[in-house]
Formats: sequence, structure tokens, C-alpha cells
Amino acid sequence: MVKQEVIAIDGPAASGKSTVAKEVAQRIGAVYADSGALYRLVTWWLLAQGIDPEDHQAVRGALETLKIEAAVVEGRITYSTGDECPADALRTQRVNSAVSPVAANADVRHVVTAILQSLARFGMLVMEGRDIGTVVFPDAAFKFYLDASPEVRARRRFTDKDGNVDKAALEDVHKSLARRDVIDSSRKTAPLRIADDAAVIDTSDLDIEGVVKRILDTVASDIC
Ligand code: DC
Repeated sequence: MVKQEVIAIDGPAASGKSTVAKEVAQRIGAVYADSGALYRLVTWWLLAQGIDPEDHQAVRGALETLKIEAAVVEGRITYSTGDECPADALRTQRVNSAVSPVAANADVRHVVTAILQSLARFGMLVMEGRDIGTVVFPDAAFKFYLDASPEVRARRRFTDKDGNVDKAALEDVHKSLARRDVIDSSRKTAPLRIADDAAVIDTSDLDIEGVVKRILDTVASDIC
């Protein structure tokens, strides 16, 4: 079977996927694609149209008018709806709270999955997400699943460069990550799960460089 030219990097929120995927893509000269950003863009767009993200009927109707363009800018995929999307709009609290139900909507997943699959036209991809190795590119040449406990992931988000931890924020983030894990892994369509043929990397005791090295070693040993 011909494998797709894709390195799929899946895992729960804050497992380090983004940093690792960007670094791997840069080092091997592949294009970096963040699939979560596309779910966020669709969520932002629905909200901008005044659509209730939990109203399935309205979301389905709106999707018929949604046009998404993708391009490669400086080695990474950027998406646009044609409407002005302010910088940082995808990471606001409003989008954060609405994105899980939008990502659980089967109509949305259908549209987003097709767009993600079409990105293969840009050449070798390093794509990060939740269902890249299981649904989007089941024949990806390489599949990795990055994991770490919710405690470790929350701590990473809230440790500053001097190693200080904001304890109250930590507790909040720990709870919210655990809640997102439950939503992402229990939804009916394309839940977060480990692909049978994925290499699982527990990143709890590894720094970014350690994880990147594991991935590059696997890729290199397979190609050589
Ligand atoms: O990785 P992120 O936090 O930017 O993802 C945003 C949301 O999209 C999150 O609820 C998980 C979901 N998502 C998904 O369901 N499937 C993907 N391939 C990527 C993200």
C-alpha cells in the first residue's frame, strides 16, 4: 500500500504537539499544518455570522456558504474564510468555549476533514491534531501520539520562564484540560484515540528537543 506523505502527530490538548510539529516540519523541510486552527476558524466564523454553534440545523445551513482557502506561508498552512479574521481571534475565550461542540459536530468534521485531506497537494506535511492518524490520513507514513498526564500538561502551561507556578491558575487549567479530554475522547465522531499503528511518546519526562529527536530518529531509521 502506498503511504501518504504525512507525519501525523495526535494527542490531547497541551501535550506539546504544536511546538514539536512545527520544529519537526522545519527540520525536514515539510509543511506544518495545525488542524485545530481550522476548527477554531470555523467556530470564529460561525460566531461572526451570529450562528449558535450548538444549533445543528443552523450550523448545517451556514456550512453550505462557507468557503475556506488554504495556502502555504513561510512553511506553514494558513486558512482564510474571505472574511477579515483579526489576529489572535482564534484564541479568545469565546472561541475556546465554543470550539469543542463545533468540533463534535459531524457536519463540521466532514467539511474540515475534506479540507485537511486536500492539503496533501502542498507536498510532505507534518499535521497535528486529534484524529489525523485515525481518520484524516489513516495511511500516513508516520503516526505519533504524544501524551502526558493532565497534571503535567497544566503545569507546563503555567510555569513561567523562571520556573514559578501560579497555583490557582494551575488548578483551573488542570480541571479544564481534564474536561476537554473527556469531551474530545467521548464524542461520537472521530474521538481522540490512539491509532493502532501509532508510536506513543510519553512526553512527561522529555523536553521539546527530546520529543523532536524521537520523532526524527524514527523517521530517519525508516527512510534509511
Ligand atoms: O488543538 P486545539 O486546542 O487548537 O483544538 C481546538 C479544538 O478542535 C479542540 O476542541 C479539539 C478539536 N480538534 C479536533 O477535534 N480534531 C482535530 N484534528 C484537531 C482539533
